[in-house]
Amino acid sequence: MAEDKKRIFSGMQPSGLITLGNYLGALNNWTKLQDDYDCLYCIVDMHAITVRQDPAKLRKQSRDLLTQYLAVGLDPEKNTIYYQSHVSQHAELGWILNCFTYMGELNRMTQFKDKCAKHADNINAGLYTYPSLMAADILLYQADLVPVGEDQRQHLELTRDIAQRFNGVYGDVFTVPEGYISKVGAKIMALQEPERKMSKSDENKNNTILLMDEPAVIMNKMKRAMTDSENEVRFAPEKPGISNLLGIYCAVTDTKMADAEREFANVGYGTFKTAVGEAVVAQLEPIQKRVHEIEADKAYLDAVIKNGAEKANYIATRTLSKVQKKVGFPPRIR
Ligand code: TRP
Repeated sequence: MAEDKKRIFSGMQPSGLITLGNYLGALNNWTKLQDDYDCLYCIVDMHAITVRQDPAKLRKQSRDLLTQYLAVGLDPEKNTIYYQSHVSQHAELGWILNCFTYMGELNRMTQFKDKCAKHADNINAGLYTYPSLMAADILLYQADLVPVGEDQRQHLELTRDIAQRFNGVYGDVFTVPEGYISKVGAKIMALQEPERKMSKSDENKNNTILLMDEPAVIMNKMKRAMTDSENEVRFAPEKPGISNLLGIYCAVTDTKMADAEREFANVGYGTFKTAVGEAVVAQLEPIQKRVHEIEADKAYLDAVIKNGAEKANYIATRTLSKVQKKVGFPPRIR
């Protein structure tokens, strides 16, 4: 790993199946960073259990997520791709950082409040201290940049505050990370409720297109996507449904918005939706084919898992040892 490259860290929860939104908003951009940055992409299974998970399902989703990372083109030689639970330093640093995080700060986290409302029967301490574990994820690797969406900005701010607080007491231990705002990434909205983000945990399946959806399913979901009472394909704030479909079209075909508007200037919504659906299918089909190929190669996947954990472990150990020394834990006798 070249020392002169800036380091990027990001994580994704294996708490559901990857959507077109995850792909266009995050994964697809990650593949463009792999030559210029030293990137770590963590599958954050420890974060996932802050809400109740079915163990077999969680295990499968974690493997599926890894497979999909590889299928979209993330190269495990260039990036460090690994499961959070395979690197116990996350939990260890998470504990230490808990002792440098104030309850007042955690109380202000909007995602915590949202999740409390959604999972009122299981408001556990892990859900509460989720942000200090996330800070540990990032700070363990001395990441310079963290590509995150709007919904994670508050957590990243807190990570910076924790890093600065710790550094203020012990000297320069942690790199204070910054958000990485991609110039290209598209924000994809829910198909039937385009005022909110497409999310893998959405209960309405017609709101999301999954990376692994079959062509017929994609076309059908497209057909049911919300439009409006006009019959004009153009990008406008008062037309969230059509604008979202245009955004999807532009992202998958690499077309400029003005060109797309021109292309669909004289067609009805039905024809437009079919064109968007077909463009999405064309983009996803080769990825799906690769997913099946990779899935079949157990030895390869296992090697990726093992190597990823080893690479991450190596960097994490360096930071954790330094932190343990700084806070005053006694040295190990070897
Ligand atoms: N909290 C993030 C989410 O829900 C996932 C995550 C965990 C993460 N640790 C991270 C993202 C570190 C970026 C960096 O989407």
